[in-house]
Amino acid sequence: MKESKDRIHNQRFSVAPMLDWTDRHCRYFYRLMSKQTLLYTEMITTGAILHGKGDYLLFNEEEMPVSLQLGGSDPIALAQCARLAQERGYSEVNLNVGCPSDRVQNGRFGACLMAEPELVADCVKAMRDACDIPVTVKTRIGIDDQDSYDFLTAFIDTVSNVGCDTFIVHARKAWLSGLSPKENREIPPLDYPRVYQLKQDYPHLTLAINGGIKTLAECEQHLAHLDGVMLGREVYSNPYLLAGVDQHLFGSNADIMTRAQVVEAMYPYIEKHLASGAKLSHVTRHMLGLFQGLPNGRAYRRHLSERAPKADATLDVVIAALKLVTEYRQPE
Ligand SMILES: Cc1cc2nc3c(=O)[nH]c(=O)nc-3n(C[C@H](O)[C@H](O)[C@H](O)COP(=O)(O)O)c2cc1C
Repeated sequence: MKESKDRIHNQRFSVAPMLDWTDRHCRYFYRLMSKQTLLYTEMITTGAILHGKGDYLLFNEEEMPVSLQLGGSDPIALAQCARLAQERGYSEVNLNVGCPSDRVQNGRFGACLMAEPELVADCVKAMRDACDIPVTVKTRIGIDDQDSYDFLTAFIDTVSNVGCDTFIVHARKAWLSGLSPKENREIPPLDYPRVYQLKQDYPHLTLAINGGIKTLAECEQHLAHLDGVMLGREVYSNPYLLAGVDQHLFGSNADIMTRAQVVEAMYPYIEKHLASGAKLSHVTRHMLGLFQGLPNGRAYRRHLSERAPKADATLDVVIAALKLVTEYRQPE
């Protein structure tokens, strides 16, 4: 019982896995603003983890809790990766059954797996057998013309039968051909009531909703029906939204950092990153939206986006960008 309560607590608010966006630098930055949010890695394929040259599982301790999202459909490879995820210290491992890109379909994983619930169940079972951390699934409400509620429940039935008790549901279907991944995040209509219905019919499962959510007030509305909310693009473009999460959604009394404090708290991390010979913009590209909507927020953004990519850019670029907003005085 306690375990499932913890699980619900963990899933209550999360930042979506986003390829090329939610890398370890991004997650370090997000963690400064919210201690409770569950963070997801970008999708990492089993092939990259098991046969790639780099260390795709690298993260900073401070980011925890983090869920590793895997792309794949070979139960043996997924099991190996789930074991590695646990060994490396990830909090959860998640299977991607929602990404519609062609590249992903060629590898027979992502959203097209919704059509093969038995295979997904085999994958999830193999992953669960290989590790003790939670194994969760991120999915859509349907694919192509297979978009009935019965199709969705048949998928949930088959996958939950092997013990998966947590699903994050992007509340729109995916078209597997004809639409780009970006269009597939915008064109198929959102259907939140369908996800609410799932919770009615599967009260024992931990169910989180994803897609098009933009404010903490909207999160609260969804949380009246479901166990969790997952936000992607809105957090990326307006990351300071995270600063209110612990207080508003988790009842925390801890002080909320100001935006300037968040930037300053990044300095030691940035210095360490630069000392390793890496580029400033790898870190600062995730910080561009921090002052979104504030006076001179655009000047901050421009300063960082123009100067940080230069090979010799140092922390001074960030200090100067911050001054543009903190020392800005509205014209009388
Ligand atoms: C740039 C980008 C990359 C994404 N990469 C992934 C991914 O690696 N794995 C995944 O499951 N979803 C991925 N998504 C989808 C998001 O996780 C999320 O489901 C989608 O953006 C809808 O949520 P939102 O409206 O809150 O952004 C990506 C979305 C974006 C914008």
